[in-house]
Amino acid sequence: MIVLGIESSCDETGVALVRTRPDATPQLLSHALHSQADMHQAYGGVVPELASRDHIRRLLPLARGVLAQAGRSLGEVDLVAYTRGPGLAGALLVGAGMGVALAAALGKPALGVHHLEGHLLSPFLSADPPRFPFVALLVSGGHTQLMRVAGVGDYELLGETIDDAAGEAFDKSAKLLGLGYPGGPALSRLAAHGNAAAFELPRPMLGSGDLHFSFAGLKTAVLTQVRKLEASTCDAWRADLAAATQAAIVDVLVKKSMRALRETRLARLVVAGGVGANHLLREQLDAACHKARVQVHYPELHLCSDNGAMIALAAAMRCDAGRATPQRDLTFDVKPRWALDAIDATAAPVLS
Ligand code: KG4
Ligand code: ZN
Repeated sequence: MIVLGIESSCDETGVALVRTRPDATPQLLSHALHSQADMHQAYGGVVPELASRDHIRRLLPLARGVLAQAGRSLGEVDLVAYTRGPGLAGALLVGAGMGVALAAALGKPALGVHHLEGHLLSPFLSADPPRFPFVALLVSGGHTQLMRVAGVGDYELLGETIDDAAGEAFDKSAKLLGLGYPGGPALSRLAAHGNAAAFELPRPMLGSGDLHFSFAGLKTAVLTQVRKLEASTCDAWRADLAAATQAAIVDVLVKKSMRALRETRLARLVVAGGVGANHLLREQLDAACHKARVQVHYPELHLCSDNGAMIALAAAMRCDAGRATPQRDLTFDVKPRWALDAIDATAAPVLS
């Protein structure tokens, strides 16, 4: 089966072609991505209306590009997958509208996919794919969750953030440090020149005895330090504070992940979402998992942030697992707020 995947939930337009065959690992035929980061940079964050308009401009050229790159024609596409939610309503509508229209014109089915399910399954496109069951650490700009994953569509929420997401903690701290948007990669680059031990920052909810997270207090602690130091003549504190912030976020993510593995008695961890690209997080998870004899899997670095490949893959895996309900109804909707463990209660429409 060849699936065309369309991602437009936030500030990246992604299109990809994924091919699946029985008893073979899924194959990424081609993918293309346009990041709107430069456009939103001037505003310090994503402007929803600008995001939607840019998705409209980019989607068709990107789709033509991935077909040409893979040497395939539209007629060879068996399924069109698009992100149904969660995300920005207007941005989601662009991808959903195009996906459904394209599928209808081709006489092929379309399937709305949960964005986080895409992230969660994205390591299945890597050279070292995981096997079910596993614990998943989902760390993106909007979500921080630990899940027990028994199979496609079989997700149990173990814990999540009660306020800011890990990516948000990176982004907000980066903004306080005067770094650009998106802040995660920028803060991580600055942190490479700093000394994390120069500041003692809180590790919120580390001792809470459960698998929940909280990052809002960390942002306040960073703000307090910035206010104290911003008038100083030397700038070296900025790199130190960036390093300390990164160390605090990573420390909490690693310790809670290891706790989830102990509690579930599972020996496999899958890390997904934009923050999964963070080098310190990968380094510390590798070390902790090696010590605990746990296998850890990541998506390929270029598939950590939002992309169309993970949407195509999730759709294909759902169909293969018999967990997508065919529907002849041509209506569609988007779900800006959508819990991952509630996917099946709101069966994604398949149009055929
Ligand atoms: O998964 P994603 O691309 O989009 C959402 O679904 O939210 O995640 C974006 C988040 C942003 O908060 C960004 O700052 C963060 O991932 N991020 C990073 C790194 N690369 C992206 N955070 C820390 N270190 C990185 N290298
Ligand atoms: Zn995402």
